[in-house]
Amino acid sequence: MKRNPFFLQLSPNYLFRELKNRVDNFALLNPERSLISLGVGDTTEPLGTTIAESLSQAACDMRDQELYMGYGPDQGLLPLREKIASVLYQDIISPDEVFVSDGAKCDIARLQVLFGQDAVVYIQDPSYPAYADSSRLARSIVGKEGHRLSYLSTLPEKDTLPHLEAAPEDAIIFLCSPNNPTGVAFQRSELSSLVDIAQRKNQLIVYDVAYRAFIQGDLPRSIYEIEGAKKCAIEIGSFSKMAGFSGIRLGWTVVPKDLTYSNGITIHSDFLRLVTTTFNGASILSQRGGIQALSPEGLEEIERQILLYLENAGSLKEALLKKNFIVSGGEHSPYVWIKTEHTSSWDAFDYFLQETGIIVTPGIGFGPSGEGHVRISGFGRPYLIESAIRRIESL
Ligand code: MLT
Repeated sequence: MKRNPFFLQLSPNYLFRELKNRVDNFALLNPERSLISLGVGDTTEPLGTTIAESLSQAACDMRDQELYMGYGPDQGLLPLREKIASVLYQDIISPDEVFVSDGAKCDIARLQVLFGQDAVVYIQDPSYPAYADSSRLARSIVGKEGHRLSYLSTLPEKDTLPHLEAAPEDAIIFLCSPNNPTGVAFQRSELSSLVDIAQRKNQLIVYDVAYRAFIQGDLPRSIYEIEGAKKCAIEIGSFSKMAGFSGIRLGWTVVPKDLTYSNGITIHSDFLRLVTTTFNGASILSQRGGIQALSPEGLEEIERQILLYLENAGSLKEALLKKNFIVSGGEHSPYVWIKTEHTSSWDAFDYFLQETGIIVTPGIGFGPSGEGHVRISGFGRPYLIESAIRRIESL
């Protein structure tokens, strides 16, 4: 069998796999060093009590002849879709427009099939590496007409607004707010201007709100808060960071019924066709946990965890600022983005590892604009964050 040539367009390892290999190697050579993992953004706080109980109740229900369920409904359990629409979107979208998934990353990859091989993709830079990697796997990134994958630089110290005018008509645009890794969230007026351009140029925005729960104050938590967005945007969300479901697996994608291809055919019907062909739905157990997470008690449990991670990120940011690092994020996001003096972000990663034993993520992993930066994560047990702060202070 011939190898899919699109694999040649990828680096040998996914960012966090590469990071783990380097950390394992360092640990092997330096067994006496104690390392603090603030690289990959993975949740550390245990599930809220009522959420955990709902998961175990869901498992127990499966023993009962009356309550047992095999496959769930194609788009996900209706009570969960209703809760997503009402609690997270205040009914600006309808449950019919919600597709429950097993997480944002899986839907990012599935969407690529929807866009096809000729799609021209523009990616906010820096941002979550799965957008670029799944785009590279889906098509040849260089076509007769030129590059099919381009970056829209949005560094906090320069300009946080991606220049959508640079992308052609019909382009697919990946945006992430609050941004992973920079932690910057779009202002309402900024998002409005992006939606205007996308509508005018017939572009499709894929808007990732995996970190929406971290937004404080009146910034938009969904692109659909902006007039016209239902005609130009798909939104992807996740329970991973919001409710600690990174191992339980649950997310959603919103495909508005008003959203059409340039030929007028609705994207919703193709997305339904796609997910029913390639996916048998998120686990019923995780969906039951998701329903509880969006109940009043569940939301309180979630909120406590979000505040703890934000406090972690805020304290890390403060310690870095005291050491004169140029930083952003940590206010609407669990991540702090650090501009370093190193030109290579892998060198900066090595510097933090050698000097402090803190594992950070090199900015280049998030796109070319990430070079010269690293990301530090506020997902960590508070005592480890305190220890990381002491190590930063001693730099
Ligand atoms: C991150 O650390 O940016 C992600 O949460 C990890 C991932 O989903 O790949």
